[in-house]
Amino acid sequence: MMSTSLRRLLDALPAHQHAAAQQRFARRQAVLGDRLQRLYGHLPGHAAWFDGLMAEVGQLMAARPATLQALDATREDRPDWFCSPDMLGYSAYADRFGGNLRGAAARIPHLRELGVTYLHLLPFLRPRAGESDGGFAVASFDEVDPRLGSMADLEDLTARLREAGISLCADMILNHVADDHPWAQGAAAGDPGLRDFFHVLDRDAAAAYERTLGQVFPEAAPGNFTHVPAMGGWVWSTFYPFQWDLNYANPAVFAAVATAMLRLANRGIEVFRLDSTAFLWKRLGTDCMNQPEAHLLLQALRALVDIAAPGVLLKAEAIVPTRELPGYFGSADAPECHLAYHSTLMTAGWAALAEQDASLVRAVAAATPPLPPGASWLTYVRCHDDIGWKHLLAEAGSLERLAGVAHFYNDGAGYADGVGFQGGLATNGTAAALSGLEAATSDQAIELALRRLLLVHGLALCFGGLPVLYMGDELAMPNDHAYRDDPARAHDSRWIQRAPFDEARAAQRHDLASPTGRAHAGLRRLIRLRRQLPDLAAGVPCTALDAADPALLALARGEHVLALFNFSARTLVVDLQALGGAGTLALEPWDQAWLDRRSGRHLGDTMEEAR
Ligand code: GLC
Repeated sequence: MMSTSLRRLLDALPAHQHAAAQQRFARRQAVLGDRLQRLYGHLPGHAAWFDGLMAEVGQLMAARPATLQALDATREDRPDWFCSPDMLGYSAYADRFGGNLRGAAARIPHLRELGVTYLHLLPFLRPRAGESDGGFAVASFDEVDPRLGSMADLEDLTARLREAGISLCADMILNHVADDHPWAQGAAAGDPGLRDFFHVLDRDAAAAYERTLGQVFPEAAPGNFTHVPAMGGWVWSTFYPFQWDLNYANPAVFAAVATAMLRLANRGIEVFRLDSTAFLWKRLGTDCMNQPEAHLLLQALRALVDIAAPGVLLKAEAIVPTRELPGYFGSADAPECHLAYHSTLMTAGWAALAEQDASLVRAVAAATPPLPPGASWLTYVRCHDDIGWKHLLAEAGSLERLAGVAHFYNDGAGYADGVGFQGGLATNGTAAALSGLEAATSDQAIELALRRLLLVHGLALCFGGLPVLYMGDELAMPNDHAYRDDPARAHDSRWIQRAPFDEARAAQRHDLASPTGRAHAGLRRLIRLRRQLPDLAAGVPCTALDAADPALLALARGEHVLALFNFSARTLVVDLQALGGAGTLALEPWDQAWLDRRSGRHLGDTMEEAR
């Protein structure tokens, strides 16, 4: 007999959608029902609530445009479509990239030239009035920021990107909303249902939680609670005081957020970057991160996506220690996100540069389990946020060691031009600035800085995952100090890496006499090479081989690829025989070589010959 929830789902759908919906529901109903039961089953009216949610989901499926339904069907047939080495991501703020959404669309040729197939535009929904943490304080999930365009512009952008073979990724900021979001305003105006969308505590209860909580912005926004007189208490606000954490112990919050996400999926968004996923569930006596219930929530959300919009990907933004990262993929029976940031790999790459020793990358690689099928790491070099060194504590063994790395980047101790953040154990700065290009004056210094810039990108491109470039890094853009003169941004040094797209540099990108042209050409060469190597697909095993010299990172990918990275200022003579190949190879300071594992031949050369 058909369950009431399935009946409610089907009732909302036209007959031609029934068969597929029924099949998808059958595949995911066990995990969906179980996770929601575990989270909310103890509450009165749970079964009716679940049936109501399925009716809403059915309506959203009925409203899903035919082109997106077709995309769903194609991707269901090829669930690992995003794991291939053809995939390349790019991340940018819409305004900084192209002025607005239309301007971003006008940059499609720039993206295509690089080989981009996935564009993450940082928050573009209507943000809070005034300061908004770069749009991460959302005031409406159903409106585009009017400064950036309209919903029609968004739909047009997604269609144009799709035509160009590029999937649009958008942030789904599900941990919190802005204090001027209607839910927050309603709560502050006394609506008891909406008040329950948030965590409102008295002073003592807040203090009890605070004892074991960390702090995200200890300098700019200390503490995790904000006293809001209209709410008669302390509102949980992990990030800035104007970002109010949502209360996922309330099923109405889950339903409201899940349906908001599916509405956006119907606008053509193909990937959701689930912001701050680690923080979704609170438990007294813990740091309220990575709690088991946060995973149950993500499993339920994934099941809904698999039913309603299976062409859509979920990506976990959980910036946490290596051991916590794989959990965000879930399990074969209960998958969570398709993608997860490999944040400690990124951090370890920069740490290895500072230490001239690749041991932290080797340790992270060793602690990284094989990917489950249909899942991929998101690998990267820089993003709009800081590099947080503390997440490497397990691999580094001591905070002192990480403080040494932070000192290197933040205090001008070497070539790098970074700025300290979060009390010093984090760094801001563009990839070029951190690689030493900003400070380089001689040809020799420029050459070495470019090698370092390409070294960290090479790691992201060949480790195994979907590599995402951060806007401007392909042009070796320097730090942007202008934020210091803007009172709305001066307190948050992450703005140093959020400069507007540099037209002058873009015009220089083919000029091989300029550092910009060399960075762009070097990066494109690695990207092209990657595309030709099936062993660089996400799921192919990646092993960090034992190397005789601590500065050498030797990554074996599958049967054919051996990628060597020299993290030091010394020339290394590498014994390839010891790595299973033949002969020796001299690796210049901060240089890399992608080789055929057996013959030791440069894969790059093979590629040049093939062209
Ligand atoms: C994520 C974003 C970051 C933002 C925070 C709060 O970590 O990447 O920029 O400040 O969430 O939304």
